[in-house]
Amino acid sequence: MKQNEGDEWQEPIDRSRPSAARMYDFLLGGNRNYHADRRAVEELLKTVPSSRELALNNRAFLIRITRYIAQAYGIRQFIDHGSGLPTQRNVHEVAEAVHPDARVLYVDNDPMVLAYGRALLDESPSAVILNADIADTDRIVDGLQGRIDLSQPVAALFVSVLHCVPDRDNGDPKAIVQRTVDLLVPGSVVVVCQLVSDDPDVSDKVTSQMQEDTGGKWGRVRTEADVHRYFDIDRLVVEPPGLMDVTDWRRDDQAPARQETREMWEFGGLARVV
Ligand SMILES: C[S@@+](CC[C@H](N)C(=O)[O-])C[C@H]1O[C@@H](n2cnc3c(N)ncnc32)[C@H](O)[C@@H]1O
Repeated sequence: MKQNEGDEWQEPIDRSRPSAARMYDFLLGGNRNYHADRRAVEELLKTVPSSRELALNNRAFLIRITRYIAQAYGIRQFIDHGSGLPTQRNVHEVAEAVHPDARVLYVDNDPMVLAYGRALLDESPSAVILNADIADTDRIVDGLQGRIDLSQPVAALFVSVLHCVPDRDNGDPKAIVQRTVDLLVPGSVVVVCQLVSDDPDVSDKVTSQMQEDTGGKWGRVRTEADVHRYFDIDRLVVEPPGLMDVTDWRRDDQAPARQETREMWEFGGLARVV
């Protein structure tokens, strides 16, 4: 696969301002983050003390569900929207362990994610990272050329990314999921989860902090009902075990410790395109 197509323009890395990708990396125990990210995480921990367990369980969910999709549905093509900084087990590694011919298109718009992603995937025959906003479906479709065959089933992943998307016009999270489903043939699957809370105080505090920290590159903490709505789309059927705190989605004995307190959690699941 050819690398870096369509990357004619890219934002510089801004170390003075936290980024959601680097904060998440710090929560996972990674070292691809700066002082501003670590300070922002400290602030977040005051509102959501269980943020580390939340992040670790979300990442474990991503690994479990990728493996499950490859094994149970035989799917070999993945589009990972909002892929994040490369970490110990990435989607292409999990998918390739099941199907050595698996192919992955990573999509992200954080300059640090793009830089590390390109370094990791340099010369990779099976995976590539595209610089695109997940709301820019046309650009993503252009970036698929020769990599992902839309006449065959695809797994479209939106794991822990839709809370970064504001509720506006055609950038609205449900509209993004809808446009993606419209591209997919029956037999494809869609995974969605995002940050939710039932405590308006927690939602407001986290949303304000993240909006301020990231200079508006964030959406909001939502509710379980909002996530149910994203799945309420023609041709989309939620698969067992349903929508839930992702910590419990086909949890296995490798799963990290649960959140001790649960001010906020990642809610979602898997649906099949019919
Ligand atoms: C919390 S991380 C999740 C990473 C990975 N999906 C996971 O669950 O382990 C969110 C990622 O989404 C990316 N992101 C946020 N908004 C985005 C957008 N509008 N378009 C593309 N990527 C976006 C961020 O840069 C970050 O890398």
